[in-house]
Amino acid sequence: MTIFLLNVYHTYTPLEFLLKSARKYGDCVSLSVGSIRIYLFNHPNLIEEVLNKQNQNCIKDISYRVLKEVFGDGLLLSDGEIWKHHRQLMQPAFSSERIAGYASIIVANTAQMLTTWRAGEIRDIHREMSQLTIKAIAQTMFGVDVTETVLEIGETLDTIMLHYVRQAEMWFLLPIWLPTPGNWKAHRATKRLNEIVYGIIDRRRQAPMDDLLSRMMRLKDEDGNQLSDRELRDEVMTLLLAGHETTANALTWTLMLLAQNPSAEAKLVAEIRSVLEERLPTINDLPKLRYTEMVLKESMRLYPPAWILA
Ligand code: HEM
Repeated sequence: MTIFLLNVYHTYTPLEFLLKSARKYGDCVSLSVGSIRIYLFNHPNLIEEVLNKQNQNCIKDISYRVLKEVFGDGLLLSDGEIWKHHRQLMQPAFSSERIAGYASIIVANTAQMLTTWRAGEIRDIHREMSQLTIKAIAQTMFGVDVTETVLEIGETLDTIMLHYVRQAEMWFLLPIWLPTPGNWKAHRATKRLNEIVYGIIDRRRQAPMDDLLSRMMRLKDEDGNQLSDRELRDEVMTLLLAGHETTANALTWTLMLLAQNPSAEAKLVAEIRSVLEERLPTINDLPKLRYTEMVLKESMRLYPPAWILA
């Protein structure tokens, strides 16, 4: 079934539109925008076909290119050989041993954040979760403490993403070079973020450690070439966004859902008390926190932090 996108873009938000299309037309919906044909897949087998079985025949959608100014050739936007090479370089940072090492940093940051919370006060949970996850990414991936710039990093990334999401909601992208107020604001935010990210790269160059960024700086390919500052910047920017926004959104929605479902919250608290008693969690506790895992998965099912990829 082919439907014409331009006839319906005023009626629904993108998420409503995708949901209604899938409910009405099924597992594979074909959409036309002018001469461009888009297929919407809504079944796990079809999605597996694209991401896994047929991935040699698929490239990332051209709509991602508008984000090039911000994320360059980082993993999220790159394809082919560049993607493969950088992906291989970064893969060891996500081994189970490394992740176990990150857990203690994340727990320590969370415990520190909670010492500043007081019973009965009103807090902007999304802002708190963003700061928590930005600090976690910076410390675990790049070995840096960004306490002083965390607010600015969060705000500049939000400005940039909001700009692109607003444009996507209009189903229309203004050329990046047009001097509109939105483009100008996003451009200024990107410039400031560049300064912060190059600052992180400089700090690691001067004092290398055992983090992902230091390892990426040391690596050489078969021809002896190392990653340039620009390539490092693209990956740092990508990890900052991909690693913090998704996790912050997942945590924010989960806390909202728990506030709306007191019986689920009581069950979660009971499990945590029984497994941890009064101590802080470690990675070894995760298999025992079965209900906690179910809560997080249900929250991500209801409110997927990354709800579209093309
Ligand atoms: C709830 C948490 C998360 C969710 C739901 C999530 C979801 C996703 C999705 C759907 C993609 C594919 C995007 C696309 O190709 O268009 C992706 C890619 C990626 N994510 Fe995550 N993510 C999460 C957490 C993280 C974290 C914590 C990190 C870093 C520490 C991270 C780093 C990345 C990177 C680098 C990519 C690009 C990978 C590649 O193309 O090779 N993500 N994520």
